[in-house]
Amino acid sequence: MEEFRTVRGFHDILGEDLRKFRRVTQTVREVLRRFNFEEVILPVVEYAELFQRSIGDFTDIVQKEMFVFPDRKGRLLALRPEGTASAVRAYLQNRLYTLRPYVKLFYEGPMFRYERPQAGRYRQFHQIGAEVFGSEDPLVDAEVIKIVHLILKELGIPAVVEINSLGCKVCRPVYREALSKFLESVAGHLCDVCMERKDKNPLRVLDCKVTTCQEAVKEAPRMLDYLCEDCKKHHHSVKRYLEVMEVPYRENPHLVRGLDYYTRTVFEAVSETLNITIIAGGRYDYLVEELGGPPTPAVGFAVGVERLSMLVSVQEEEEPLYFVIPFGQVEEYALMVADFLRSQGKRVEISYKKGSLKKQLELANKFKARYAVIVGEDEKNSSEVSIKDLATGEQRRVKLEALKDYHR
Ligand code: HAM
Repeated sequence: MEEFRTVRGFHDILGEDLRKFRRVTQTVREVLRRFNFEEVILPVVEYAELFQRSIGDFTDIVQKEMFVFPDRKGRLLALRPEGTASAVRAYLQNRLYTLRPYVKLFYEGPMFRYERPQAGRYRQFHQIGAEVFGSEDPLVDAEVIKIVHLILKELGIPAVVEINSLGCKVCRPVYREALSKFLESVAGHLCDVCMERKDKNPLRVLDCKVTTCQEAVKEAPRMLDYLCEDCKKHHHSVKRYLEVMEVPYRENPHLVRGLDYYTRTVFEAVSETLNITIIAGGRYDYLVEELGGPPTPAVGFAVGVERLSMLVSVQEEEEPLYFVIPFGQVEEYALMVADFLRSQGKRVEISYKKGSLKKQLELANKFKARYAVIVGEDEKNSSEVSIKDLATGEQRRVKLEALKDYHR
């Protein structure tokens, strides 16, 4: 019979990849702890409409990348493609705005997008996202970008943080109008997808990867030149605070993001080695209200855990492994020995295989054990064990009690 394989774009994560994955998530969590973010576990399935309304009808995610399916009553559900919409839903449903004037949440888990799989792009991937609800202060944008910077720094990942401002209700429509006009004038040079975007979501044309489109928009009007006074001041303060906190950044006037809810600050950390976006986020001051809540400015980001994992290194497991080998009819004593070692907090394997001492020691090596703890009739009768240091080859016979602080 043919072997079962994972669904295209879905992956098992194990071994060294998993150690990298854990290093990333632990580091991100540790940085978020220092900024006093609180965790929320969000469901993987939501009503599809939540994402349509948040991310935008004319985005790639909603148009072609969502896993959507009806439940038994015909309601349309979706595997979440991202966490921000769910976080807003949770913020409203749990009335978190009644707690404090602002709330800082983070979440971790799998996200699903029906994209074309390639290196660093999967259909199930993991994010840790963080969101701050309730403040439009540029200090928050700067702190959030500082977090991104710290994560990269602590993981030793070289990356630049690019920033831009997308303006607000007041200035964006004016800019959109100017951009549409411009795009009309270069329409002959745009790819088919951008011809459609030009009318429905003109900002997206700015970050099309097709060379002819990139050439065509080089002279396009820039949002930065259209910012209203408030947005200009806001953007300026964000940059000023970043400088004060020594966070390097690069302004990218073409940075627009693939989700529609953004306003003002947007940012992306781009890996210098892989040339892909590894962390991304921005401000979304209208989304909470658009989803039925009180007017609540917000800002956040999400890290792509697999993408960061591709860029970090990890060390071999350093904690020594004790490999207990029952030699003869001494299973009961071997279990006691293993139990004792574990009660001392040590990492222990007890051999599940029978065989010659040579075979058993080979097995210990396969497990990359540091110590073989050999127990036979003799050892049992004197409450001792023979312990062999597999790194040095040295073997000694010691009292079971003496194993307490054996490893130096
Ligand atoms: P996003 O840019 O769609 O933003 O995704 C954030 C990160 O998730 C990306 O930078 C990337 O590292 C990772 N990612 C996205 N798609 C894939 C994929 N197919 N395979 C592997 N990794 C992927 C958001 O999702 C927003 N919710 C971020 C945010 C939070 N904005 C404000 N708050």
